[in-house]
Amino acid sequence: MKLNGTMCINEKGHLEIGGCDTLELAREFGTPLYVLDEMCFRLSCRDYYDAFSIKYGAEVIYAGKTLLNLAVCRMVEEEGLGLDVVSGGELFTALKAGFPAGRIYFHGNNKSSDELAMALQAGIGCFIVDNLFELELLSHLAGEYGQVPAVILRVTPGVDAHTHEYIKTGQIDSKFGLVIETGQALAGVKRALELDNIYFKGLHCHIGSQIFELESYRYAAEVMMAFINQIGEETGCLVAELDLGGGLGVYYTEGDQPRAIQAYADVLAGEVQEKARGYGFQPPKLIVEPGRSISGPSGTTLYTVGAIKDIPGIRKYVAVDGGMADNPRPALYQARYEACLAGKITRPSSEVVSVAGKCCESGDMLIWDIELPVAEPGDILAVSCTGAYNYSMSMNYNRLPRPAMVLVRGGSAELITRRESYEALIMNDLVPERLMKNQSVTKNDH
Ligand code: LLP
Repeated sequence: MKLNGTMCINEKGHLEIGGCDTLELAREFGTPLYVLDEMCFRLSCRDYYDAFSIKYGAEVIYAGKTLLNLAVCRMVEEEGLGLDVVSGGELFTALKAGFPAGRIYFHGNNKSSDELAMALQAGIGCFIVDNLFELELLSHLAGEYGQVPAVILRVTPGVDAHTHEYIKTGQIDSKFGLVIETGQALAGVKRALELDNIYFKGLHCHIGSQIFELESYRYAAEVMMAFINQIGEETGCLVAELDLGGGLGVYYTEGDQPRAIQAYADVLAGEVQEKARGYGFQPPKLIVEPGRSISGPSGTTLYTVGAIKDIPGIRKYVAVDGGMADNPRPALYQARYEACLAGKITRPSSEVVSVAGKCCESGDMLIWDIELPVAEPGDILAVSCTGAYNYSMSMNYNRLPRPAMVLVRGGSAELITRRESYEALIMNDLVPERLMKNQSVTKNDH
């Protein structure tokens, strides 16, 4: 397993993260447990800030959909990044954490009137408007609230990036954004410029997630700059901001080759500057929205090994106390992960096993065919790079409570999300009077 962030092997031969022995973390907080490496998270934010903001005056907005809770909002704010939210729930979390509203960008392809109103009331920095319906709705609501919100229009550049089908977004046949090629995007810009209650500030595109080739990004920037030129020619408007989304890939398993954040920044900013020079206008302010490349490698999930089922000559299943409910990515995208036995990390791998989750689904397999030392019930299995799209995509299937999350740094571990209790699972359940015990339905009731 590749060691991310502050991970190391301590003198006891155990996996340590943020100076904390992972076996002790498992004992103290229970498993499954999300462990968030504070320094790794913060240093990734700083790498982005240095590469984009210091070097190019660009804005970096952390994509909250990858991992968001109150403590994460606090760290993102302290590191000087903005925040991309995509729902009333994410917005609520950010506001409750005291995140400055002016640095919040509101995404989403179907924001409700309530969500838009909530954001207007909070005075967020910018709405990334996805479609014409939303543009009209926002303009109408802004009028009611006496505001003129800043708007960035999301467009589809027609870039087909190499990644999983479900996480591609830049191609024309996508539910997101106004298509440039069909003229819809230009019509959207013209409409935004007409509306009195809208301050049209710029354009957005996002080509997908877990992308390694910088050429796809460069090409998207090229398409966007050509569109900005067209807008200038047709409307006289100089687009002030260009948001090129997120998407930089991370290392999960062998074969994944993440690109350096600075190289990514140089390609994007270089293309924007060069094209602006060629067209003869001021380059727009660049915005990026990284998520996975900040939160992904900062997270590790600890599980306890339970049942082990050996089918001789076929497969050995090692079951853990979590699975698709805390990490749906393998089941959803055939995502692959590395793992180690946290207390046996110095022992050589001696068998190939498959790690099963505990949900009632044959597809609830966390890792197929992984080489590990001999696993026994009670061992702690650590799965790396689970910071992004794990907790945020977790669910209560089989009524499994969501795991706790601890923030580790310099040998101390602080709980930042409590383990969901069984009580919390039934908190929103209601029983109509007639279904209360001893008031069973009589034969004549229908
Ligand atoms: N900006 C926009 C508009 C996005 O849609 C996304 C991710 C991001 C930024 C952040 O992208 P990142 O840097 O994290 O790649 N659940 C899937 C990924 C879905 C991506 C959603 N959008 C997964 O687990 O792979």
